[in-house]
Amino acid sequence: MEFPRKLLEALRQAQRIAALTGAGVSQESGLRTFREAQDGLWAQYRPEDLATPQAFQRNPKLVWDWYAWRRERVYQAKPNPAHYALAELARLVPHFTLITQNVDGLHQAAGSPNVIELHGNIRRVRCSVCGQVYTQWEQHAEEVPRCRSCNGLLRPDVVWFGENLPPAELEAAFEAARTCELFFSIGTSGVVQPAASLAYLARREGARIVEINAEATPLTPFADFAFQGKAGVILPALVQAAFFNPPH
Ligand code: OAD
Repeated sequence: MEFPRKLLEALRQAQRIAALTGAGVSQESGLRTFREAQDGLWAQYRPEDLATPQAFQRNPKLVWDWYAWRRERVYQAKPNPAHYALAELARLVPHFTLITQNVDGLHQAAGSPNVIELHGNIRRVRCSVCGQVYTQWEQHAEEVPRCRSCNGLLRPDVVWFGENLPPAELEAAFEAARTCELFFSIGTSGVVQPAASLAYLARREGARIVEINAEATPLTPFADFAFQGKAGVILPALVQAAFFNPPH
């Protein structure tokens, strides 16, 4: 694969790089995206029935079971070359910040340090009443499990529509976007706020924008470099070209 020399130089020289990832990065690990017409979860299910606080209030068991089903898929999934290339970038770039909307934990499984999880993590649950977080609970219970301290219903520790993002993570993501020289948007449709605004903030503050996505998105016209294709193919090739092929 050929990459513009300007991009390869920028990658080699940048002190600060930030990357935002979305469901497209885990697609090659066999996990479904949300908004794609064929395989997207939201093509088959309605978010308002499954991914809102109101849905959980109405029918906790339905919501719990849907996340349990997704969690099973996550447990079976393994990181793919896109995850590994991003973990490698953390070792190669002086300050590399990885921000993800994914809840699958596959970046960490690939070895990425300090991942900023904007939408939580499906491998954790928390009490819907007191907020106590759990990494272990009765996985195959018939009923929705309850909190050991307050008896409230447990829920997945993810962000639902209509809920705020975790403030410390959001602030760290904004800070990384504000201060980076290169901002990558990878495998995300870029339509869910506030995550989608990070690229525009980075751009306003002078960063160059690199997009890697299977298809064009609203961000594409604003990207300095846009690559259409699979993240698991493009990212490793880019890391290789920038850092492991001697420049001539
Ligand atoms: P989307 O499903 O909206 O977008 C995934 C993007 O990845 C699409 O633009 C695809 O074209 C692209 N894509 C698919 N396979 C790819 C591949 N192999 N390589 C590169 N790109 C690929 O998912 P997100 O943008 O992550 O929120 O969605 C954002 C949020 O909406 C999610 O975090 C979730 C969802 O509702 C919450 O659950 C809070």
